[in-house]
Amino acid sequence: MELGFGGDVARYYARFRRGYPPEVFEALDETFALTPQDTVLDLGCGTGQLTVPLARRVRAVIGMDPEPDMLRMAREAAPAAGGTDVTWVLGADADVPALGALLGEHRLAATVIGQALHWMQHEDLFAALLPLIRPGGGVAVLANGTPAWLQDSDWSRALRGFLEEHFGTELKDSCGTARKDRERYAPALEAAGFTDVRHRVVSYTEEVTCEELVGGIYSALPERQLPAPADRPAFAQRVRQALPHRETFTERVDVSVLTGRKTGEATGRPTGKLPGRAAPTGSP
Ligand SMILES: C[S@@+](CC[C@H](N)C(=O)[O-])C[C@H]1O[C@@H](n2cnc3c(N)ncnc32)[C@H](O)[C@@H]1O
Repeated sequence: MELGFGGDVARYYARFRRGYPPEVFEALDETFALTPQDTVLDLGCGTGQLTVPLARRVRAVIGMDPEPDMLRMAREAAPAAGGTDVTWVLGADADVPALGALLGEHRLAATVIGQALHWMQHEDLFAALLPLIRPGGGVAVLANGTPAWLQDSDWSRALRGFLEEHFGTELKDSCGTARKDRERYAPALEAAGFTDVRHRVVSYTEEVTCEELVGGIYSALPERQLPAPADRPAFAQRVRQALPHRETFTERVDVSVLTGRKTGEATGRPTGKLPGRAAPTGSP
């Protein structure tokens, strides 16, 4: 299957995809009782939107992704953002059992999957993750809002109309961000043996510029559909013309956090043989 997250798409992803708000990390902390001794896996980590803030809260994060360009961008940006305790691993959901062999007796506190589960065999993945996670830990499936062109506002409808005409296709695939996806993932978590399956939404609004909207579009296109570099100024101009005449556009961001826990109390102690680290170095 073509992933299409390489080359310039990874560059646009790193620059224009928003991170997650602090409340999301607080919810993960609380749900999985994260400690400074914990290790977390961020599967489908992309350019590190979840990885780096998590690395400031736990001992170490494994950022795993099958797209080398996404990992490269993430690795380059992480130290400046304070995410120093990250191991970047080239791999996909099918490699999780092999990761288990590597971890040995050490258990993950959590696996987070942000905007990426729709690329994976989620039932097999949840089953493979359960034995790798410590009691009280779990899995979190996140969606970072609805794509800008699928929202319920005048400018979003205008953007959608332009993109549908430009690409000659109806835009409705919300890439794992829609309720229908969550309704499949929640019972699959339970079927795999996770409990306390819970859904939370963290909502806020943000002003975005036309440049940010265009960057967001480029970050969501398969690499082969990205306009050639020479054509990008004209594309951006056409987006601007299609939008209402404004400096910024109000975007409502509903971050969806679906969690399932592994039964048992969190111990708050390291469960494996890897050496511990003193304390988290900051907050997101
Ligand atoms: C939309 S990005 C999400 C990045 C980041 N997690 C976020 O929340 O913004 C999706 C990522 O999933 C990765 N991906 C695609 N197929 C995957 C698979 N089978 N296993 C793991 N990651 C995958 C892609 O390479 C891409 O980096």
